[in-house]
Amino acid sequence: MLPSFTPTHGLLLAVLSQLSTRLSCSSMANLDIPKIAIYFGTKTRYEEVNPHLQRDLLSVNTSVLRPPPTERCSPVHLTAVIRHGSRYPTAKNIRRILKLNQLVRTEASGPSRSSAAWLQDIRSRWEPWYTEDMDGQLVTKGRDDLHHLARRLATLFPSLLSEENMRKRRIRFISSSKHRCVSSVEAFQEGLQQHWRHHEFSHEVDDQLMRFFERCRSYVEGVENNRTALLEVEKFKHGEEMEGVRKKMAEKLGLPLDSLTPDLVEAAFFLCSYELSIKSVHSPWCFLFDESDAKVLEYKSDLKQYWKRSHGHMISSLSSCPLFHHIFRTLDKAGRPRRSTEASPEPASILVGHAETLLPLLSLLGLYKDQTPPTAINYHSQHGRSFRSGRIVPYAANLLLVLYDCSGGPRLQMLINEMPLQFPGLREDAPLYRDVRATYRHLLDGCNFATECEGQGSHGVGGRRPNTEL
Ligand SMILES: *[C@@H]1O[C@H](CO)[C@@H](O)[C@H](O)[C@H]1NC(C)=O
Ligand SMILES: *[C@@H]1O[C@H](CO)[C@@H](O)[C@H](O)[C@H]1NC(C)=O
Repeated sequence: MLPSFTPTHGLLLAVLSQLSTRLSCSSMANLDIPKIAIYFGTKTRYEEVNPHLQRDLLSVNTSVLRPPPTERCSPVHLTAVIRHGSRYPTAKNIRRILKLNQLVRTEASGPSRSSAAWLQDIRSRWEPWYTEDMDGQLVTKGRDDLHHLARRLATLFPSLLSEENMRKRRIRFISSSKHRCVSSVEAFQEGLQQHWRHHEFSHEVDDQLMRFFERCRSYVEGVENNRTALLEVEKFKHGEEMEGVRKKMAEKLGLPLDSLTPDLVEAAFFLCSYELSIKSVHSPWCFLFDESDAKVLEYKSDLKQYWKRSHGHMISSLSSCPLFHHIFRTLDKAGRPRRSTEASPEPASILVGHAETLLPLLSLLGLYKDQTPPTAINYHSQHGRSFRSGRIVPYAANLLLVLYDCSGGPRLQMLINEMPLQFPGLREDAPLYRDVRATYRHLLDGCNFATECEGQGSHGVGGRRPNTEL
């Protein structure tokens, strides 16, 4: 049976959640954040990317919306592709964490260089509280991530994520089938509900759109299940920089070097990240790593994302063609001129998925493509790289596409994690929509899932056959 909400209920709910927001805001302000927290790759908190949120999770800076000041413009549609919020480790990483803890308790008997308090804490006070059934589920902090994002977006786009649009069910919600994504979409809806005191929502599950990567055969065979495709990652894992980190950690813990595998080094680093992103604590495990160690481990994660989900292999980005076409079809519809008697277009489309959903799509759009690809041997020349997964796909990462109706024609602005970012080759923050379409002409006319992923026909991107899907 569905719970029925009376106005009193709604009010109570609103008061309660405001209270909890205040509490969590104030505890956040006091939180002692590890210095290395900006190097956690895909396990980075959203607040590390947008530090002003560490003071106020609801603060919104409307100056990020930048239609040209010389034209009259109003937003008519928002498409948001959002990653789920903070989550528990996957079962695989939980097993590694437990193994690491076991190792430190049983074998770390050797002389350690340090008698620091954090080491005592790890050895005698820290309790492994992770269990395998937590496997990747959204945590309370992850619900908050989406809840607060929804409230900020409702403040930023009051005419699109409006009470009326919600009441008339004109906003579309699509989620990946994974539990953490469904929970995220619900938390987002609760955020809107609190903003507008409205409470009837539904969503569609669509893995064809949000988990395209596991359905693209050429990707699964050529990259996912192909050990050679991630050779750079393997080489770096056993390379000079990672070896250095491993030796330092073994010494600090007083462990025999042989017992500490690169996977266990990474497990300790992840552990530090999880304790922060799940429990908002500065874990004693964090003291194992200084900033230079953290940068090496960040690079290891970035290499994996680059070669598995991004520019490393073309097929990774091409696997997102269905989502790409879906988004542009939605934008086309929303921007189409119409008579005043016609129904107005869909004001917003909220699509919730994974880092594995966003990275290929952003790569397909030509973003974060550095001149020199990151490899196992060029770590030292990659400090200035734009491809940093922690900046691009932290928890609750989002790609926002805002379509404006302007006096000079429709315009489109892109934001990544609520910060403006220009389309490749276009100089304006909100260029004409037709110029964006021209930039991606080759994809709009091609980028065919059947061709790229199932090897049907010989037409690649920019092939002569127009894409019948459009
Ligand atoms: C809002 O962002 C702009 C830059 O986009 C910055 O100049 C301004 O200080 C910010 N305002 C607030 C209140 O943070
Ligand atoms: C595996 O990856 C390598 C390197 O990218 C590539 O040359 C090879 O063709 C791939 N193998 C398969 C079966 O796709």
